[in-house]
Amino acid sequence: MSLQRAAKSIRSIPAEGVLDLQQVNISYSGKAAVKNVSFAIAKHNVTSIIGPSGCGKSTLLRSLNRMNDFIPEVTTEGKITFDGQDLYGQEVDSVEVRRRIGMVFQKPNPFPKSIYKNIAWGPGINGYEGSIDELVERSLKRAALWDEVKDRLHESALSLSGGQQQRLCIARALAMEPDILLMDEPCSALDPISTAHIEDLIFELKSRYTIVIVTHNMQQAARISDYTSFMEMGELIEFGVTDQIFTRPRQKRTEEYVTGRFG
Ligand SMILES: Nc1ncnc2c1ncn2[C@@H]1O[C@H](COP(=O)(O)OP(=O)(O)O)[C@@H](O)[C@H]1O
Ligand SMILES: [Mg+2]
Repeated sequence: MSLQRAAKSIRSIPAEGVLDLQQVNISYSGKAAVKNVSFAIAKHNVTSIIGPSGCGKSTLLRSLNRMNDFIPEVTTEGKITFDGQDLYGQEVDSVEVRRRIGMVFQKPNPFPKSIYKNIAWGPGINGYEGSIDELVERSLKRAALWDEVKDRLHESALSLSGGQQQRLCIARALAMEPDILLMDEPCSALDPISTAHIEDLIFELKSRYTIVIVTHNMQQAARISDYTSFMEMGELIEFGVTDQIFTRPRQKRTEEYVTGRFG
Protein backbone atom coordinates (compact mmCIF):
# COMPACT_ATOMS: atom_id res chain seq x y z
CA MET A 1 0.00 0.00 0.00
CA SER A 2 1.35 3.43 -0.92
CA LEU A 3 1.92 6.11 1.69
CA GLN A 4 -0.97 8.16 0.34
CA ARG A 5 -3.38 5.28 0.42
CA ALA A 6 -2.27 4.36 3.91
CA ALA A 7 -2.82 7.95 5.00
CA LYS A 8 -6.30 8.03 3.53
CA SER A 9 -7.44 4.83 5.10
CA ILE A 10 -5.97 5.80 8.48
CA ARG A 11 -7.75 9.15 8.31
CA SER A 12 -11.11 7.80 7.28
CA ILE A 13 -12.39 6.67 10.67
CA PRO A 14 -12.97 9.47 13.19
CA ALA A 15 -12.99 8.73 16.89
CA GLU A 16 -12.87 10.53 20.20
CA GLY A 17 -9.87 8.72 21.61
CA VAL A 18 -7.28 9.11 18.88
CA LEU A 19 -5.05 6.27 20.10
CA ASP A 20 -6.64 3.35 21.86
CA LEU A 21 -4.57 0.70 23.62
CA GLN A 22 -6.21 -2.62 24.39
CA GLN A 23 -4.40 -5.22 26.48
CA VAL A 24 -1.00 -4.28 25.16
CA ASN A 25 1.85 -6.62 26.11
CA ILE A 26 5.41 -5.92 25.03
CA SER A 27 8.41 -8.11 25.72
CA TYR A 28 12.13 -8.19 24.91
CA SER A 29 13.28 -11.72 24.02
CA GLY A 30 10.30 -13.08 25.94
CA LYS A 31 10.86 -10.93 29.04
CA ALA A 32 7.78 -8.78 29.72
CA ALA A 33 8.33 -5.01 29.86
CA VAL A 34 4.72 -3.84 29.39
CA LYS A 35 1.92 -5.97 30.81
CA ASN A 36 -1.69 -5.87 29.75
CA VAL A 37 -1.97 -2.09 29.41
CA SER A 38 -5.26 -0.55 28.24
CA PHE A 39 -6.17 3.13 28.02
CA ALA A 40 -7.14 5.72 25.42
CA ILE A 41 -5.31 8.87 24.44
CA ALA A 42 -7.67 11.78 23.83
CA LYS A 43 -7.34 14.04 20.84
CA HIS A 44 -5.89 17.53 21.41
CA ASN A 45 -4.97 16.75 24.97
CA VAL A 46 -1.70 16.13 26.75
CA THR A 47 -1.37 12.66 28.26
CA SER A 48 1.60 11.98 30.51
CA ILE A 49 3.10 8.62 31.39
CA ILE A 50 4.81 8.58 34.78
CA GLY A 51 6.41 5.89 36.91
CA PRO A 52 9.76 4.77 38.28
CA SER A 53 12.76 4.14 36.06
CA GLY A 54 12.53 0.85 34.16
CA CYS A 55 8.74 0.52 34.53
CA GLY A 56 8.20 0.42 30.75
CA LYS A 57 7.34 4.05 29.90
CA SER A 58 9.67 4.35 26.90
CA THR A 59 8.80 0.88 25.65
CA LEU A 60 5.10 1.75 25.75
CA LEU A 61 5.66 5.15 24.12
CA ARG A 62 7.68 3.59 21.27
CA SER A 63 4.88 1.12 20.59
CA LEU A 64 2.58 4.05 19.77
CA ASN A 65 4.40 4.90 16.54
CA ARG A 66 5.96 1.50 15.87
CA MET A 67 9.47 2.61 16.77
CA ASN A 68 9.88 -0.73 18.53
CA ASP A 69 9.84 -2.29 15.05
CA PHE A 70 13.53 -1.33 14.90
CA ILE A 71 14.38 -3.52 17.91
CA PRO A 72 14.44 -7.12 16.63
CA GLU A 73 13.89 -8.83 20.03
CA VAL A 74 10.62 -6.98 20.69
CA THR A 75 7.26 -8.74 20.58
CA THR A 76 4.09 -6.65 20.73
CA GLU A 77 0.71 -8.20 21.50
CA GLY A 78 -2.76 -6.76 22.00
CA LYS A 79 -4.25 -3.99 19.94
CA ILE A 80 -3.42 -0.35 19.35
CA THR A 81 -5.76 1.60 17.12
CA PHE A 82 -5.18 5.03 15.62
CA ASP A 83 -8.43 6.75 14.66
CA GLY A 84 -10.00 3.30 14.74
CA GLN A 85 -7.46 1.59 12.49
CA ASP A 86 -5.19 -1.17 13.76
CA LEU A 87 -1.74 0.45 13.95
CA TYR A 88 -0.12 -2.96 13.48
CA GLY A 89 -2.48 -4.11 10.72
CA GLN A 90 -0.80 -5.77 7.74
CA GLU A 91 -1.92 -3.11 5.29
CA VAL A 92 -0.57 -0.25 7.41
CA ASP A 93 2.67 1.39 6.32
CA SER A 94 4.87 1.88 9.40
CA VAL A 95 6.75 4.75 7.72
CA GLU A 96 3.47 6.60 7.27
CA VAL A 97 2.59 5.81 10.89
CA ARG A 98 5.79 7.49 12.04
CA ARG A 99 5.08 10.53 9.88
CA ARG A 100 1.61 10.89 11.41
CA ILE A 101 2.91 10.16 14.91
CA GLY A 102 6.22 11.98 15.44
CA MET A 103 8.74 11.49 18.23
CA VAL A 104 10.97 13.81 20.24
CA PHE A 105 13.70 12.28 22.38
CA GLN A 106 15.31 12.97 25.73
CA LYS A 107 18.55 14.32 24.32
CA PRO A 108 18.12 16.91 21.56
CA ASN A 109 19.41 15.23 18.39
CA PRO A 110 19.56 17.79 15.57
CA PHE A 111 21.35 16.74 12.40
CA PRO A 112 24.84 18.30 12.05
CA LYS A 113 23.47 20.57 9.34
CA SER A 114 22.02 24.07 9.20
CA ILE A 115 18.91 25.04 11.16
CA TYR A 116 17.07 25.36 7.84
CA LYS A 117 18.14 21.94 6.56
CA ASN A 118 17.13 20.27 9.80
CA ILE A 119 13.55 21.27 9.05
CA ALA A 120 13.61 21.02 5.24
CA TRP A 121 15.23 17.60 4.89
CA GLY A 122 12.37 15.29 5.95
CA PRO A 123 9.59 17.01 3.99
CA GLY A 124 12.02 17.27 1.04
CA ILE A 125 12.62 13.54 0.77
CA ASN A 126 8.93 12.97 1.43
CA GLY A 127 8.06 14.92 -1.72
CA TYR A 128 6.56 17.97 0.00
CA GLU A 129 4.91 20.02 -2.73
CA GLY A 130 4.40 23.42 -1.07
CA SER A 131 6.98 26.12 -0.39
CA ILE A 132 9.76 24.72 1.78
CA ASP A 133 10.68 28.25 2.95
CA GLU A 134 7.15 28.73 4.26
CA LEU A 135 7.14 25.31 5.86
CA VAL A 136 10.44 26.06 7.64
CA GLU A 137 9.10 29.39 8.92
CA ARG A 138 5.76 27.93 10.01
CA SER A 139 7.38 25.00 11.80
CA LEU A 140 9.88 27.22 13.63
CA LYS A 141 7.08 29.59 14.64
CA ARG A 142 4.97 26.75 15.98
CA ALA A 143 7.95 25.54 17.97
CA ALA A 144 8.42 29.08 19.38
CA LEU A 145 11.94 29.28 17.93
CA TRP A 146 11.51 31.51 14.85
CA ASP A 147 12.31 34.86 16.51
CA GLU A 148 15.53 33.48 17.94
CA VAL A 149 16.83 31.95 14.70
CA LYS A 150 15.27 33.81 11.77
CA ASP A 151 18.50 35.72 11.06
CA ARG A 152 20.74 32.65 11.29
CA LEU A 153 18.82 29.92 9.47
CA HIS A 154 21.92 28.77 7.61
CA GLU A 155 24.11 28.45 10.67
CA SER A 156 24.75 25.02 12.13
CA ALA A 157 22.01 23.64 14.36
CA LEU A 158 24.77 22.60 16.72
CA SER A 159 25.49 26.28 17.45
CA LEU A 160 22.14 26.50 19.27
CA SER A 161 21.73 26.06 23.03
CA GLY A 162 20.36 22.76 24.34
CA GLY A 163 16.89 24.22 24.85
CA GLN A 164 16.89 25.74 21.36
CA GLN A 165 18.07 22.43 19.90
CA GLN A 166 15.16 20.67 21.55
CA ARG A 167 12.69 23.21 20.13
CA LEU A 168 14.38 22.67 16.74
CA CYS A 169 13.74 18.93 17.08
CA ILE A 170 10.10 19.72 17.87
CA ALA A 171 9.96 22.01 14.80
CA ARG A 172 11.51 19.23 12.71
CA ALA A 173 8.82 16.82 13.88
CA LEU A 174 6.07 19.40 13.21
CA ALA A 175 7.35 19.96 9.65
CA MET A 176 6.22 16.42 8.84
CA GLU A 177 2.67 17.60 9.63
CA PRO A 178 1.94 14.93 12.24
CA ASP A 179 -1.27 14.49 14.20
CA ILE A 180 0.42 13.23 17.33
CA LEU A 181 3.70 14.07 19.04
CA LEU A 182 5.33 11.56 21.35
CA MET A 183 7.92 13.02 23.73
CA ASP A 184 10.23 10.88 25.83
CA GLU A 185 11.48 12.96 28.77
CA PRO A 186 12.02 15.95 26.47
CA CYS A 187 13.18 18.27 29.25
CA SER A 188 15.38 16.03 31.33
CA ALA A 189 18.59 17.27 29.66
CA LEU A 190 17.54 20.93 29.91
CA ASP A 191 17.94 23.74 32.44
CA PRO A 192 14.85 25.12 34.25
CA ILE A 193 14.35 28.09 31.90
CA SER A 194 14.53 25.92 28.76
CA THR A 195 12.22 23.45 30.48
CA ALA A 196 9.68 26.21 31.13
CA HIS A 197 9.88 27.18 27.43
CA ILE A 198 9.12 23.63 26.34
CA GLU A 199 6.28 23.32 28.85
CA ASP A 200 4.70 26.55 27.55
CA LEU A 201 5.16 25.26 24.03
CA ILE A 202 3.46 21.94 24.82
CA PHE A 203 0.51 23.88 26.19
CA GLU A 204 0.23 25.86 22.93
CA LEU A 205 0.72 22.84 20.69
CA LYS A 206 -2.19 20.87 22.06
CA SER A 207 -4.70 23.05 20.22
CA ARG A 208 -3.37 21.46 16.99
CA TYR A 209 -1.73 18.23 18.08
CA THR A 210 -2.28 15.34 20.45
CA ILE A 211 0.68 14.98 22.80
CA VAL A 212 1.91 12.01 24.80
CA ILE A 213 4.80 12.79 27.14
CA VAL A 214 6.90 10.51 29.30
CA THR A 215 8.29 12.34 32.28
CA HIS A 216 9.88 11.34 35.55
CA ASN A 217 9.16 14.85 36.82
CA MET A 218 5.83 14.60 38.61
CA GLN A 219 5.44 18.37 38.97
CA GLN A 220 5.81 18.60 35.22
CA ALA A 221 3.12 15.97 34.65
CA ALA A 222 0.83 17.80 37.07
CA ARG A 223 1.48 21.15 35.38
CA ILE A 224 1.14 20.24 31.73
CA SER A 225 -0.98 17.15 31.27
CA ASP A 226 -4.73 16.66 31.06
CA TYR A 227 -4.54 12.90 31.64
CA THR A 228 -1.95 10.90 33.52
CA SER A 229 -1.10 7.22 33.41
CA PHE A 230 0.95 5.81 36.25
CA MET A 231 2.97 2.67 35.53
CA GLU A 232 4.91 0.38 37.78
CA MET A 233 6.85 -2.74 36.77
CA GLY A 234 5.25 -2.84 33.35
CA GLU A 235 1.69 -2.51 34.61
CA LEU A 236 -0.67 0.41 34.32
CA ILE A 237 -1.60 1.02 37.93
CA GLU A 238 -3.93 3.94 37.31
CA PHE A 239 -5.08 6.16 34.47
CA GLY A 240 -7.22 9.26 34.90
CA VAL A 241 -7.64 12.99 34.71
CA THR A 242 -4.38 14.49 35.96
CA ASP A 243 -5.98 16.41 38.82
CA GLN A 244 -7.65 13.25 40.11
CA ILE A 245 -4.44 11.19 39.88
CA PHE A 246 -2.51 13.78 41.90
CA THR A 247 -5.16 14.81 44.42
CA ARG A 248 -7.54 11.84 44.73
CA PRO A 249 -5.73 8.74 43.50
CA ARG A 250 -7.80 5.56 43.67
CA GLN A 251 -4.85 3.24 44.10
CA LYS A 252 -2.62 3.19 47.15
CA ARG A 253 0.46 2.69 44.94
CA THR A 254 -0.39 5.84 42.99
CA GLU A 255 -0.80 7.82 46.18
CA GLU A 256 2.55 6.59 47.48
CA TYR A 257 4.25 7.52 44.24
CA VAL A 258 2.73 10.96 43.73
CA THR A 259 3.34 11.93 47.33
CA GLY A 260 6.97 10.93 46.92
CA ARG A 261 6.99 8.01 49.31
CA PHE A 262 8.82 5.86 46.77
CA GLY A 263 10.32 5.91 43.29
N1 LIG B 1 16.32 -2.68 23.90
C1 LIG B 1 16.03 -3.37 25.01
N2 LIG B 1 16.39 -4.69 25.11
C2 LIG B 1 16.09 -5.41 26.21
N3 LIG B 1 15.43 -4.92 27.28
C3 LIG B 1 15.05 -3.64 27.24
C4 LIG B 1 15.34 -2.79 26.11
N4 LIG B 1 14.83 -1.56 26.37
C5 LIG B 1 14.27 -1.63 27.60
N5 LIG B 1 14.40 -2.87 28.11
C6 LIG B 1 13.90 -3.31 29.44
O1 LIG B 1 12.50 -3.10 29.50
C7 LIG B 1 12.11 -2.59 30.76
C8 LIG B 1 11.41 -1.23 30.56
O2 LIG B 1 12.37 -0.30 30.07
P1 LIG B 1 11.95 1.15 29.59
O3 LIG B 1 10.76 1.05 28.72
O4 LIG B 1 13.16 1.79 29.02
O5 LIG B 1 11.55 1.83 30.99
P2 LIG B 1 11.43 3.38 31.41
O6 LIG B 1 11.37 4.18 30.17
O7 LIG B 1 10.20 3.43 32.24
O8 LIG B 1 12.65 3.68 32.23
C9 LIG B 1 13.38 -2.50 31.59
O9 LIG B 1 13.46 -3.68 32.37
C10 LIG B 1 14.48 -2.46 30.56
O10 LIG B 1 15.66 -3.02 31.06
MG1 LIG C 1 12.60 5.73 29.47
